[in-house]
This record gives sequence, C-alpha cells and structure tokens, in this order.
Amino acid sequence: MKVAVLGAGRMGETVINHLLKSELVDGIVAQDIRPERVAELIARYGIGGAVELDDVLADAGIPVVFVTSSNDAHRELTTRALRAGKAVMTEKPMATRFDDAADMVAEAERTGGFLQVGFELRYSRLYTTVKDWIDAGLLGRVVNTSCTYISSEFWGPHAWRRTKAGSGGMFGEKLSHYVDLSRWWVGDAVRDVYAPAAPNVVPYFEVHDNFHATHRFAGGATGHLTFMMAPAAKVESDPLQAPDYVPGDGHELSYLVVGTAGAARTDVFARTVSRWTFELTDAGLVSTLVETRSWTKEEDHRYIHNTHDQTLDIVRRVAAGQPPSIAPRDALDTMRLCFAAERSAEEGRIVGLDEIG
Ligand SMILES: NC(=O)c1ccc[n+]([C@@H]2O[C@H](COP(=O)([O-])OP(=O)(O)OC[C@H]3O[C@@H](n4cnc5c(N)ncnc54)[C@H](O)[C@@H]3O)[C@@H](O)[C@H]2O)c1
Repeated sequence: MKVAVLGAGRMGETVINHLLKSELVDGIVAQDIRPERVAELIARYGIGGAVELDDVLADAGIPVVFVTSSNDAHRELTTRALRAGKAVMTEKPMATRFDDAADMVAEAERTGGFLQVGFELRYSRLYTTVKDWIDAGLLGRVVNTSCTYISSEFWGPHAWRRTKAGSGGMFGEKLSHYVDLSRWWVGDAVRDVYAPAAPNVVPYFEVHDNFHATHRFAGGATGHLTFMMAPAAKVESDPLQAPDYVPGDGHELSYLVVGTAGAARTDVFARTVSRWTFELTDAGLVSTLVETRSWTKEEDHRYIHNTHDQTLDIVRRVAAGQPPSIAPRDALDTMRLCFAAERSAEEGRIVGLDEIG
C-alpha cells in the first residue's frame, strides 16, 4: 500500500524510515507546507512528495496517513483525512486544545474511520513488561504510580513547543506519554488532578517547565508525576556522563508502580525494569526482588520509545481491516487529564476531569 506522512519534519522522517522497512508499503508520500523540506526528503529517500494536502487526499491509492506535523495542525490534518476516507495515525498530543481533540474523535466516530493516537510507549518493551506483569496478576491491584522525569532544555529558544499556542502546554507535548501509562496500568477513570507549577527555570518558555502533578482515580488509586527541567546531574555513576551520551531527553526517567501484591520499577537510563513481590509473614509484610530485565543500548529504539513497532503495527492493522490498538476515546481521556493538569497549574487548585470538555 501507499502511505502518506503529513507534516514531514523530524518525527515524519523517523516514520518514513520505519515505513521503508515494511513489506506492506510500496510507496511513501511526504507532505509538508515547506516545499524545501519536501524536496529534501524526495532527494534523500527517493520517495514521493506533496506540498498541497488536497493532492494527498485526492489520491485513492493512499489508504492511511501519519499526521506528524506540529501540534497546532493535528486537528485539521486529521479531520480532513478522515473525511477523505483515510485511516489516520496522529501524533500525541492530539491537539493544542481539548475541544479540537474531541472534534477529531467525533469525526472518526461519524465517519467510522480508523484513528490511532501516537501513545507509542504502549509499544515500549520497558512499559509493556510492566503491563504484562499487571495483567498476569503479579502486582495485585495497582494502587499507586509515581514517575520522576528530569530533563534538560533541548528544544531551544525558537521551537514551536515552547509556546502554549504551538504545543498546547508541557503536559500534552511531553508528559502525556507518562500519564497515559498510569491510566493504562491502573485501568480506571481519573477523577481529578492537582498540578502545582513552580516558577519557570527556562526564561523563554511560555509553558511550565517545573511542576508536580497528582491524579486520583475513581476507585481510589493515585498517580504522581514530578517533572523538572534542570541541568544534568554530575555524578560519577551517572550513565548520562558516558562519552557517547548526547545531551537531551532526560537525566532521570523512572516509574514506580505499586500494587497490593507487588511492585515494579522502570529505569530508562539504567535500561532496567524490576519486580518485587509482597508477602505477609509473621514478621510483617516482606518485599522481595524477584526479577530484573535489562536491554542493551542497541535495542534502545524498541525498549524505550517504540515508534518503530507502532508504525508497522498500524500499517498491518489497516491492511487487515483491524481497529486501532488504542481506542480514540481512551486517548481522548489521556488528553482530558493533560488539559485538566494544565488548568490546575494555571489556577492552583484541584481540577475535576468532568470540568474539561
Ligand atoms: N515519541 C514521540 O511520541 C514523539 C517524539 C517527537 C515528536 N513527537 C510529535 O511529533 C510531532 C512533530 O514533532 P517534530 O519534532 O517532528 O516537529 P518538527 O518541527 O520537526 O516538524 C513539524 C513539521 O510539521 C510541518 N507542518 C506544520 N504545519 C503543517 C501543516 N498545516 N501541514 C503540513 N505540515 C505542517 C512543519 O513544516 C514541520 O516540517 C509533534 O506532534 C510531536 O509532539 C512525538
């Protein structure tokens, strides 16, 4: 099949590289509003290109499009593609405003079209391992999740991401992945969120760059996320001080998932995930480390972020006439939590999810 990539910047090029590996794909069209970018990709990969969206939408030989534009264009590209009968994968965050994200889901439901949102960490080996343990009952009922994410500022002073209008906020642009994981693991509706933001560290950011966020689920479970944009920690054992480390996405990125029967801890930079069991003994509740899995640096593209398997899975699903692996309304609920957290940071109060949309 022929596949189009709409908004072919950095992420679009990553998707093109994945598509080139698919046996089901025999043609790729890179579409972008920047003609020089389209020309560059045509020359680099020998693929097709378009500047006008209508040229892609009118091509009946293209059944599926990947929307990898900046966030402010997701709604328009997605709804127009769905209306033209295309299956759509759209990047996270779905949109810069909740109402736009809701429009996208409504359009998919109205047309009966395929819409999958790029919460690709649900394909990551690190996080699917935790989900498999939960589904096998090894953690019991998940009652508490906690994510610590410390990142450097690697967007730069001119990135569209640093403005609220461009990205929709830090929560959608960067942290939506991590609250999506919490929702996925706990498997319950989020009731409310409190996200106090600290004064900004990065002077040219309109979006918040340091905060905590706690969300509560209807059944009583809780989830917490600490996000800090900060300089790199300089400690001897820091794997990020290795000579081949490229400064960028984080200095600490870990998740602790606590259930009634056990716990799991992921550590992206140590490339490990570990599991503990809890056992009630005469001496009290005893916690035992039972398993640790690790990956090599060569496996990074699969075990941390996994847009590779996500892309190939979506192509396979569309070819087989199967539904998306993440229901659009499930993705919309993650976006609802992100926009509630943004409102909480603005207004300094607990925000109910029922206040959004
Ligand atoms: N792991 C992940 O999930 C992950 C990682 C990186 C980026 N992303 C997402 O991918 C998207 C793109 O990020 P990026 O880093 O590639 O940004 P980028 O700035 O490199 O590319 C965005 C491209 O969109 C194009 N564009 C803007 N408006 C358009 C329109 N109306 N029609 C067509 N093209 C348009 C721009 O010209 C640019 O080439 C964002 O939504 C981002 O959140 C996801």
